Amino acid sequence: MGALFDPFSEEYFADPYPAYRRLRDEAPVYYNAERDFYALSRYDDVAPAQKDFATYSSAYGVDVASVHSGRWRGLPMMIMMDPPEHRRMRALVNKVFTPRAIAALEPMARETIGGFLAECDPAGFDGVADFAALFPVEIISRMLGIPEGERQQIRHWLDAALHREPGEEEMGPAGERATAEMGAYFLDLIGRRRSDPQPDMITALVEAEVARDEDGASTRLDDLEITSFLSLLGGAGAETVTKLVGGALVALADHPDQWAALREDRSRIPAAVEEALRFDAPAQYNVRRSMREVRLHGVTIPEGSAVMLLVGSANRDERAFADPDRFDIDRPVTGRPNIGFGYGVHSCLGAALARMESRIALELLLDLVPRYDVDREGLRRVSMSNVAGYASVPVRAV
Ligand code: HEM
Repeated sequence: MGALFDPFSEEYFADPYPAYRRLRDEAPVYYNAERDFYALSRYDDVAPAQKDFATYSSAYGVDVASVHSGRWRGLPMMIMMDPPEHRRMRALVNKVFTPRAIAALEPMARETIGGFLAECDPAGFDGVADFAALFPVEIISRMLGIPEGERQQIRHWLDAALHREPGEEEMGPAGERATAEMGAYFLDLIGRRRSDPQPDMITALVEAEVARDEDGASTRLDDLEITSFLSLLGGAGAETVTKLVGGALVALADHPDQWAALREDRSRIPAAVEEALRFDAPAQYNVRRSMREVRLHGVTIPEGSAVMLLVGSANRDERAFADPDRFDIDRPVTGRPNIGFGYGVHSCLGAALARMESRIALELLLDLVPRYDVDREGLRRVSMSNVAGYASVPVRAV
């Protein structure tokens, strides 16, 4: 293909970091003519762009194909809205995801995560397929009110929707089918909650009212709005934590001294979670539409362009992090935090939940495999839009 950076190529899916380094050094505002998008890769460009929603709009979608086609424009999903509409939608669910509210869910999360790990044989299991893929969807679905036994299906639909064959920018027929089936499933569930309210988030959304403009009257959410909420919360809550824990397992197998340090002092686990988020960001990029002409590093980005904000690259920028390709749980905290959870108005709603789940997963893994190795030949990475990480991490206790 020959492009400096193609986020739908096999090389990228296998290892995005060499391309990112070249972008930062050689083309900090990169234009891919073949796919017609711009990419920002340096920390000091990505973070301010994430904050500047007036210039970089989310309202056209957060992947390249959506911004080009405008197909999802108007879909009532908060990640695809700009303020003030975005603020009103986010306010409806904010209080469920505060650190304090999430802390109250720790016993449920611990039970769920422990339940899946109890099925794993320390002599050999897949840290992703048998473990990290299973618990995040179970936890977020349980919070939403999806019945037991129906939760894992959400993940299969999401996997299909995000999967891309090399070269493929848009969702394929299997993804389209999965998206339609998931929408129909949510619509049916919303109908059931309307007639039979339950103490869950779906019912809360059915009963919630949202102001339609700054001083207008409030009205209830319609079925499409609630379906969009469920798809977003289910999607964002399921795919990313899986990738974080899978990546942490590989990085910590590569650095057994750091795993030993966690074993000796579990209070260091949250720092390991932050480092895993920086080192191999589960959400590699989000795309915006430029709402005006932008001039940066001598390049003009025309109004109406798809602009990729490469969080995965910003987190490895040597201008922001010392020795960025080294995994180090003792990395000093600086004024430039890693932006793996995004930055600005769209910064991750589920950050407290993701941090808690990942911490508990590492705690319980330390109990199961105090010393372990991974079969590097067996490592597989996903090929997905926006999301990156391992699909398979064979683990065995040593
Ligand atoms: C390690 C795990 C996670 C990572 C790396 C991650 C990353 C991100 C990032 C980078 C964004 C910003 C998107 C943008 O700027 O366009 C985001 C937004 C969001 N995340 Fe997460 N996320 C994680 C887990 C979760 C979980 C567990 C939930 C559960 C509900 C969640 C829900 C959301 C939602 C709803 C948004 C949209 C917020 C908005 O538009 O205001 N995320 N996440």
